[in-house]
Amino acid sequence: MATPQSDLDFNGLKVSQPGLPAAYYFDPARYQLEMQRIWQRHWVYVGRAQEVELPRSFKTFELGDQKILLVRDQAGALRGFHNTCRHRGALLCAQEAGTLRGNAITCAYHGWSYGLDGALRRTTSLSVAAGFDPRDYPLYQVNVREWRGFVFVSLAAQPPPFAAGFDVPLGRMDGWPLETLRTGHVATQVMRCNWKVFWENYNECLHCPGVHPSLSRMVPIYGRAIMEPREDPHWREHAGDDDPKYRGGMRRGAKTWTRSGELIGKPFATLSEKDRRAAYVYLTGLPSMFIVGHPDYVRVVRLRPLAPESTELRIEYLFTAETLADPAFDLDQVTGFAGEVLAEDAAVCELNQAGLHALAHLEGVLMPEEYLLHQFHDWVRAETG
Ligand code: FES
Ligand SMILES: [Fe+2]
Repeated sequence: MATPQSDLDFNGLKVSQPGLPAAYYFDPARYQLEMQRIWQRHWVYVGRAQEVELPRSFKTFELGDQKILLVRDQAGALRGFHNTCRHRGALLCAQEAGTLRGNAITCAYHGWSYGLDGALRRTTSLSVAAGFDPRDYPLYQVNVREWRGFVFVSLAAQPPPFAAGFDVPLGRMDGWPLETLRTGHVATQVMRCNWKVFWENYNECLHCPGVHPSLSRMVPIYGRAIMEPREDPHWREHAGDDDPKYRGGMRRGAKTWTRSGELIGKPFATLSEKDRRAAYVYLTGLPSMFIVGHPDYVRVVRLRPLAPESTELRIEYLFTAETLADPAFDLDQVTGFAGEVLAEDAAVCELNQAGLHALAHLEGVLMPEEYLLHQFHDWVRAETG
C-alpha cells in the first residue's frame, strides 16, 4: 500500500525566510564583528601536521590582523603563540615556515629569547630593574588542537569544545587513514566575495544543474537541484527507487570524484563497504573548513577571510604514499574534476557578491531547497548577536 503523501519528513523550508541583510556581506564593522565573535573564537583550520612535523620546526599563520606562530617542541608537542615579542611587541618570526636554530625563539629586535614552551629565557639588558621578573613575560599562548593530522587553532580564552564544531560526529571519518595521508597537491585562490557567500553556496544545490554540468552528471541527484532525497517534497513517491537520481550517490559505474569516475589509486583498505560505495562523505567544520572522504583520496578545503569582500580558498588533495609513488598516478583526474567544480563555485560566489551593493537590495529571500542556508544564518546571528 502506498504511503500517504506527507511533507512530515521533507527537509526543505515550508515558510519563506529572508536572507541576511545585504550589508552583512560588505560592511567593515560587520566584518570586524564576525572576525571577533566567530573567527577569533572557533577552532580554525591551519594546515596539516606534516607541515610542522620535526622538533623545532615552525609555521606562521595569519587570521585577519592576528599573527600566530606554531612550534613543534623537542618532545613532539605542537604549541601555539601569538607571533609577538613580550618586550615591545615586535613580530617574532617573519618567515612562513622553517626550523628554529637551537632550542629558542629569538626576537630580531632586541634579542629577547624564549624557550619552545614560550618561557622567557634571556633578555639582553645589562642590568635588571627592580620589579621585573622574566617569569611574568612568557609568550602569549594560543590554543592548538591536532586532530588526525590536521592542525587547528582557537584564539579564544575559553575555546568551544572541538568536536562540537563539526556537523557530524568526528568518528564518521574513522574509515579514512587521515593521519598518514600525504599532501599531493595544494591549490590556492582569492575569491572576491565575503566568506559567508562561500558557505551559502556550499549549502545548496539549487545552482548545481546550471553551474556544475559535469558534477550533475556524476552525481545525478545534484542534477535535480537537490543534495538529499528529502529535499524533494515528493520524495516518498521514489522512496524505494535505487536510481541515484532519487537515492543520491554517484552515477552507475562511477567509483570516485575524478574526470572518468575511475579510482586513481587503491581504495583505502580501512573503509567500510558502505563508505566505499558512498564515494563521498563530508565533514564540515564552520567557519573554516570541510573535508571530503573519497574511496581513494581526501579533499580538504580551507577558507580564510582576507577582507569584507575577499576570501582565500585553499584546497589540499591527500593521498596514500603508495598512490603518489605510482608512476601511473594521474593528478589531473582529480584536480581536473574537483578543482573545476570548486572553480565553478568560486565564480558564482563572485557573481553573487558583485550584485549585493544595489541600494534597493536590502536582503535576499530563501527558497525551500535553501534550508541549510537558513540554519547557517541562524548560526551567524546567534554567534554575533
Ligand atoms: S621587541 Fe622583541 S626584544 Fe625588543
Ligand atoms: Fe556548487
